[in-house]
Amino acid sequence: AIDIRELRNQTGLTAYDPGYANIASCRSDITFIDGEQGILRYRGIPIEQFEQTPNFVEVAWLLIFGHLPNAEEYAAFSDDLTANADLDEAMKHHFEGFPRSAPPMAILSAMINALSCFYPELFEINDAGHIRTAAAALISKIRTIAAYAYRRSNGLPYIYPNPNLRYVPNFLHMLFSKPYSQYVCSQTVRDALNLLLLLHADHEQNCSTATVRMVGSGQANLFTACAAGVCALWGPLHGGANVAVLEMLEKIHNGHISPQEYVRLAKDKDSKVRLMGFGHRVYKNFDPRAKMLARSAEKLLAELGRQDPLLDIARQLEEIALEDPYFIERKLYPNVDFYSGIIMRAIGIPTNMFTVIFAIGRLPGWIAHWWEQAQTPGNKIARPRQLYTGCELRDYLPMDQRT
Ligand code: ACO
Repeated sequence: AIDIRELRNQTGLTAYDPGYANIASCRSDITFIDGEQGILRYRGIPIEQFEQTPNFVEVAWLLIFGHLPNAEEYAAFSDDLTANADLDEAMKHHFEGFPRSAPPMAILSAMINALSCFYPELFEINDAGHIRTAAAALISKIRTIAAYAYRRSNGLPYIYPNPNLRYVPNFLHMLFSKPYSQYVCSQTVRDALNLLLLLHADHEQNCSTATVRMVGSGQANLFTACAAGVCALWGPLHGGANVAVLEMLEKIHNGHISPQEYVRLAKDKDSKVRLMGFGHRVYKNFDPRAKMLARSAEKLLAELGRQDPLLDIARQLEEIALEDPYFIERKLYPNVDFYSGIIMRAIGIPTNMFTVIFAIGRLPGWIAHWWEQAQTPGNKIARPRQLYTGCELRDYLPMDQRT
């Protein structure tokens, strides 16, 4: 890698790189990706090693603090998550102010930002103890906010967190329990959601994480930086792709278009259609997360004794695309969003919550990057340059002289 600062000092050079495809904006110890080989590691550990006993809370700790938690650390962090699950009662009024049709991602980003108002004591993050408290609060409360957003949009009463339940079962309880009938989470569902969340937990300088670092570089607080991350995640080229994939699969399932025709359209630039859940800025090979989620989807459906025609359609699209020269030449493979929706659908999570679930999964990564940046000596505010292409010097015209 070239240190562009040296070059600029010597030559006045400005690097033009739309989309920052070739620019490293930081040094980071958190996540390693080899896009050519399809390798992903969290703090050095291959992602595949989390498949057998998936545990999102453990991975959250690993990403933020750099090592796997020992038994004591794990128990204490789990207790912190349980203790922080409630929201200030006054926050409920904010949910009621949103229209029922409000997109849950809009509610999520607004309410995470609002945490800055309700828990200002968590702002003062100076050392590992403080970041642990703030991280536990945020990782726990995002789940309560997400569940309340879902209940609000469906006109359902809020279900309070249950202190006897751990992270994933408690979330499903807040989503799906009824006031007098508790949702019981099977081990199969628990494992599938733990795996899904942990596979989304970090992916180095993706659009939302780069946004969190960008906002944090101006020394904005952790909550606000993560709210910005939620906004960045929303779009269909990033986290919103999981919704777009499901819509694509449903369109095919409903007979509006065949898989072959869809792939043909995706190759036609004029159509503005893309094969959603395919392609990646960094992976030029299989995204290892997609392989694991495909396996998980199959296992989950088998253990639930269900079939989902959308899984067959996804498999069919994958097969067609992987044999098509267009996709082969451009090295376009299924990414993390291609199979995740099938898992969430099997759990009963509605499509408009998919990107919210992604945000819950990605939060530990955002926190880890915000904290890493905050600890880096000599951290600079993020401030890219531009190549100006506008008007030459010209004069201001009074209104009566304008055409
Ligand atoms: N379907 C059809 N063509 C595609 C697709 C696709 N899904 N993805 C890329 N291409 C084509 C582009 O049209 C372009 O073709 P060209 O060279 O003939 O102009 C070429 O492949 C390179 O694509 P870019 O858009 O330049 O690649 P970039 O790295 O900027 O984009 C992205 C990556 C945004 C993920 C893209 O592949 C895409 O839009 N995929 C679909 C959306 C999606 O699944 N997003 C989720 C990504 S993972 C995540 O963020 C969590």
